[in-house]
Amino acid sequence: MSKCHIFLVIQFLFLFEKCHCEVYTAMVDLEDLLDTEHVLINTLENYLKAEEQKLDILRGYINVYKKQQNKARNDPQLYLGNPLNAYTLVKRLTADWSQVETLISTNVNADALANITYFKENMKFPTDEDLNGAAVALMRLQDTYQLDTSSLARGELNGVKYSSELTAADCFELGRQSYNNGDFYHTRLWMEEAETRLKREANETVHKTDILEYLAFSTYKEGNIPLALDLTNKLLELIPEHTRAVGNKNFFEDQLKEVVQTKPAQRKGDDESAEVETAGVKFYKPNYDDPESKDLYEALCRGEVTIPIEIKTQLRCRYVSNNNPFLKIAPFKVEEANLEPDLFIFHDVMSDDEIATIKRLAQPRFQRATVQNSRTGELEVAHYRISKSAWLKNEEHKHIAAVSQRVEDMTGLTMKTAEELQVVNYGIGGHYDPHFDFARREETNSFKNLNSGNRIATVLFYMSDVAQGGATVFPVARAAIWPKKGTAAFWYNLFPSGDGDRRTRHAACPVLAGSKWVCNKWIHERGQEFRRPCTKERPPEELTV
Ligand SMILES: *[C@@H]1O[C@H](CO)[C@@H](O)[C@H](O)[C@H]1NC(C)=O
Ligand SMILES: *[C@@H]1O[C@H](CO)[C@@H](O)[C@H](O)[C@H]1NC(C)=O
Repeated sequence: MSKCHIFLVIQFLFLFEKCHCEVYTAMVDLEDLLDTEHVLINTLENYLKAEEQKLDILRGYINVYKKQQNKARNDPQLYLGNPLNAYTLVKRLTADWSQVETLISTNVNADALANITYFKENMKFPTDEDLNGAAVALMRLQDTYQLDTSSLARGELNGVKYSSELTAADCFELGRQSYNNGDFYHTRLWMEEAETRLKREANETVHKTDILEYLAFSTYKEGNIPLALDLTNKLLELIPEHTRAVGNKNFFEDQLKEVVQTKPAQRKGDDESAEVETAGVKFYKPNYDDPESKDLYEALCRGEVTIPIEIKTQLRCRYVSNNNPFLKIAPFKVEEANLEPDLFIFHDVMSDDEIATIKRLAQPRFQRATVQNSRTGELEVAHYRISKSAWLKNEEHKHIAAVSQRVEDMTGLTMKTAEELQVVNYGIGGHYDPHFDFARREETNSFKNLNSGNRIATVLFYMSDVAQGGATVFPVARAAIWPKKGTAAFWYNLFPSGDGDRRTRHAACPVLAGSKWVCNKWIHERGQEFRRPCTKERPPEELTV
């Protein structure tokens, strides 16, 4: 996957090209949405005030009209016998009435609509794509962290209550988004939750019939036709003339008849097999042995799988000064996070000031992290890398240069051939699926234009604490490094022979709660010849890639 990294370098040059503005992909963009909402609330309030003023005046008119009308009705002749009354009646229906008409036709909403149009063009505004992206991200979090639907709907993440509860309509929308993505499993989960929540709502936020329709169809898509028919019948009890439901009912009944005709003895069995299938999900035995498996990756993200105890007991912490006189006074605090491959955690290697500078400089340049399609060569956003990133040069600020120098001190490697500092912010469920930082053997063209060899090592700084999730995990090593503000992870991607180390395959787990900021320095081979001498000796074939 190092091709994507390469592309990120190149993409810097095309900064002003096309804007991938998906706001859900970075927490900083989502923060801007709060400003947008604030402005919209003000506009709506102004609009309501204007509308109410207008209504108040109209109410005033109606009171006068009613009062006179009542007087007149009691004794019309007496009323109209008074010339003043006769005059005011005529006035009310001419001069006054035309004012009423003017008021009724006054568009107090035009101003509000014009403002809203303006804000939509000039402020950060989410799109339907954002809504879908945010919904998909929630489903990813639900799966990775095995969150049950009703806790999530109560605003709980892993037992911690973070937000207010979702309404039935919120759940319905999550189901609808899943449906549009062809994800019928999550459609069913969220439509069922919407139905449960609806029962408790005094003022219903969604129609039960809409829920039933989605529920029936996703149930059918999951293969449970009898239940789909049941749900459709329930819907028809509420709206007998529902055209689509009538059509679906016939369709489901035909499907069931076919089943009866082809497998008469199995009809009841069909019902059961669906149940077994549902139950099967529950008793699914996860595969934690294959380093490539999603199960292992997700278990590492949840902290349920850790490095073997016999390795854990060998891990040490130490002070490192690398013979550097400055570091003798304040040596680095280094913790081993794994052996074979060596993974190191450096503590307190980035100050709050430096973090603030890096965030400030990166933020206006954030671009949705993109990757190159290996088949078409097209640049595109990928579901497996959801974040926004930007690149910073040493010359831009003394803090950037200081961080670069620190990486040199930490690793003993030269920064002359290193890439610029890459800054990344993750949004809702932001993550990066397992990948290598280096170019694999077949990716011979990857770093050609840099003329600095392959990515020998990675230093990854954590610039925020993350409340839940967001670990950096290494499935082959079964190791996980949890974000802690000011710390940095370091590892060699390549063996001294120059072969890529398969065991460094790593991933950024989805952020469950909080905002994750990291920045990284990718260090290249060229210039390290005396600092990390190459060897002719090749590592075992199965460890390289
Ligand atoms: C629309 O914007 C103008 C100028 O900022 C402001 O005076 C007006 O009150 C706004 N209207 C509404 C309905 O917010
Ligand atoms: C339901 O709506 C009515 C009328 O709009 C309102 O007075 C009442 O407070 C609402 N009830 C709840 C539980 O929101």
